[in-house]
Amino acid sequence: MILCSNPRAQYLSYKDEIDSSIQQVLSKGEFIFGGNVHSFEEEFCEYIGTKYAVSVGSGTDALCLALRSLKLGPGDEVIAPSHTATATIAAIATVGATPVLVDSDPIYHTIDPLAVSQAISSKTKAVIVVHIYGQPVDMDRIISIVRQKNLKLIEDCAQATGATYNNRRVGSMGDLGCFSFYPTKNLGALGDGGSIVTSNSILADQLRKLRQYGWDKNRVSQITGYNSRLDEIQAAVLRVKLKYLDRDNAKRVALAKTYERELNHLPLEAVSLRQKCSHVYHLYVLSVERRNDLVAHLKSNDIVAGIHYPVPTHLMPAYVQGSKPTLYLPNAERIAKKVVSLPIYPELAESDQYRVINALKDFF
Ligand SMILES: Cc1ncc(COP(=O)(O)O)c(C=O)c1O
Repeated sequence: MILCSNPRAQYLSYKDEIDSSIQQVLSKGEFIFGGNVHSFEEEFCEYIGTKYAVSVGSGTDALCLALRSLKLGPGDEVIAPSHTATATIAAIATVGATPVLVDSDPIYHTIDPLAVSQAISSKTKAVIVVHIYGQPVDMDRIISIVRQKNLKLIEDCAQATGATYNNRRVGSMGDLGCFSFYPTKNLGALGDGGSIVTSNSILADQLRKLRQYGWDKNRVSQITGYNSRLDEIQAAVLRVKLKYLDRDNAKRVALAKTYERELNHLPLEAVSLRQKCSHVYHLYVLSVERRNDLVAHLKSNDIVAGIHYPVPTHLMPAYVQGSKPTLYLPNAERIAKKVVSLPIYPELAESDQYRVINALKDFF
């Protein structure tokens, strides 16, 4: 069976180092806020290019805490793309703010800057952009819009750890950058985890309080907070994997190039590559007309393809305003019907990748 992503293979490739770092945590016996969390935060913010990193329990929590650190809640509108992981939008709703869902660009599948401008109202406080599949959004245009309208900018980098835009890492360009360390992500833990990066000391301080009951250093809650901490074992594992992230991302890029070269004559559409960017291929996504038939064909060849995502958020019952959908976002809806994600992960063997390629050729 060829999986779409394969966290087990990733564990096995660094097994000795990971096992020994976990063993050290177990022997030391400090499981929450020992040295690894602190060291990981220092290493991670240096890697991204921000002054601070605050680690938390998941990527969704990273987004919730980022919104709370900006003091957003009921009555505030936050603009975000409908075509994203549900988590992006769930975070906005969780803090009590109103998600304003907008369309994506038809060829890059990232948030459409024009749609963002058109969705701004007097209640808009922030924009969340999502570097979907691992490719940066059009940051020049987004930054110019948020500056002009004095809005806060959160980058959802869950799928794009290590990607760059104009030689800057994603997560370092907005007010806050949010990351997920879910096991399949480019930098994946062995369980849940996440981080928020920023260069704003006030926001970093607020985030450190929010992740632990709103406590100040005397353990007095100055604000209401959460329990959302990255644990020592996950931090120790992430410290090992962070050292190899660029090398692993380069392997993903090489696999993507092979797919591009081998599949370009077939009747399918690859997502366009943005100029001045490095894409880190958390997902390798194609658009095809008979998507469901293709997924079934691959399955019959023991190949697991993914669909990211089959239903755009604005059509999910939880996020429909009123009794039936009134919002029409043509690109997001078209994308949801056509996308398919092919297997891609650093350890994917060449022979397995060619099995995927040949199965696609067979299908067409
Ligand atoms: C774009 C995006 N945002 C947020 C998240 C949430 O991350 P987590 O699963 O760690 O809560 C994910 C992961 O699924 C994601 O892909």
